[in-house]
Amino acid sequence: MAGRERFETVPYNEIIGSEGDTMKLKGKVALITGSSRGLGREFAVGFAKEGADVVINGRGLEKANSVAEEIKNLGVRSIAIAADVASSSEVNKMAEDVLRAFGRIDILVNNAGVNPFILEAEKIKEEGWDQVIDVNLKGVFLCCQAVGRKMIEQGGGKIINISSAVGFLGEQGFLPYSVSKAGVMMLTRVLAYEWSKYHITVNAIAPGFIAGGMNTPILNKEMLVSGLTQQVPLKRLGKPEEIVQVALFLASEEASYVNGTTLVVDGGMTGYRSVGFIDLIAETMRKRG
Ligand code: NAI
Repeated sequence: MAGRERFETVPYNEIIGSEGDTMKLKGKVALITGSSRGLGREFAVGFAKEGADVVINGRGLEKANSVAEEIKNLGVRSIAIAADVASSSEVNKMAEDVLRAFGRIDILVNNAGVNPFILEAEKIKEEGWDQVIDVNLKGVFLCCQAVGRKMIEQGGGKIINISSAVGFLGEQGFLPYSVSKAGVMMLTRVLAYEWSKYHITVNAIAPGFIAGGMNTPILNKEMLVSGLTQQVPLKRLGKPEEIVQVALFLASEEASYVNGTTLVVDGGMTGYRSVGFIDLIAETMRKRG
């Protein structure tokens, strides 16, 4: 009875792990797209430290191989697979290759993403629009579909999609990027709904400004960083490991009832008005006495 299976209770020791076994992901196989650098590499290292075997993916093999070597030194298995996430044939082959190497895929982190330009809408070229949407949105769909089919066959899995706070905020100059990241949140919801019956959970993370990855080139630009941090209630950029911790949670059994949601990890930025609206009202009221 499918309905009853979905509400079966899980013994508490299966959720918290057996005594002495503190590794969250021991024995799990994780595929992390775009993991040859940036946040993807950080996810790979973090997952390996928690015992997962990790598949490194990049468009080319050279950097991916060197990250896979680094991961093996942490005492788990790792391979590198070159695949463009925007190509269905390459993504389908990647899913087959993971199965061939490890026999299963327990966790998929859709991390690969691009943000190649800052342009007002009237200046965006069709190729630019396509590039961003193809990698950030179609790529997430293709990887979910290829890996999801394997997860359905094997009886479950966990998918984590990397969105962005910009998917909520609608940042000017970032039209296709914002649209792609908002799309990832909706894709996450619908997939979670459709695939719950297969014991697959699908969640997303929306990071704010993180000191690493695609932000690396601006980190030494003091004015820019200070302008960005002013928009964050915690008054600092996020650290990559603060995103990794959330991904680890979503990938672990501790998140067994978290499904279809987007966890915003942005130091409070999306819930805050940078113009200090309340301060303005307070000041006006003070003046009125
Ligand atoms: P990054 O540019 O350092 O890394 C992106 C990775 O994706 C690279 O390894 C790149 O080779 C790979 N990639 C790009 N196109 C690909 C394709 N077609 N096929 C396979 N791999 C491809 O950027 P970062 O910062 O590490 O970004 C990782 C994810 O986090 C992205 O989805 C990004 O949008 C998201 N993000 C990053 C934030 C930040 O502050 N760094 C904030 C919010 C979201």
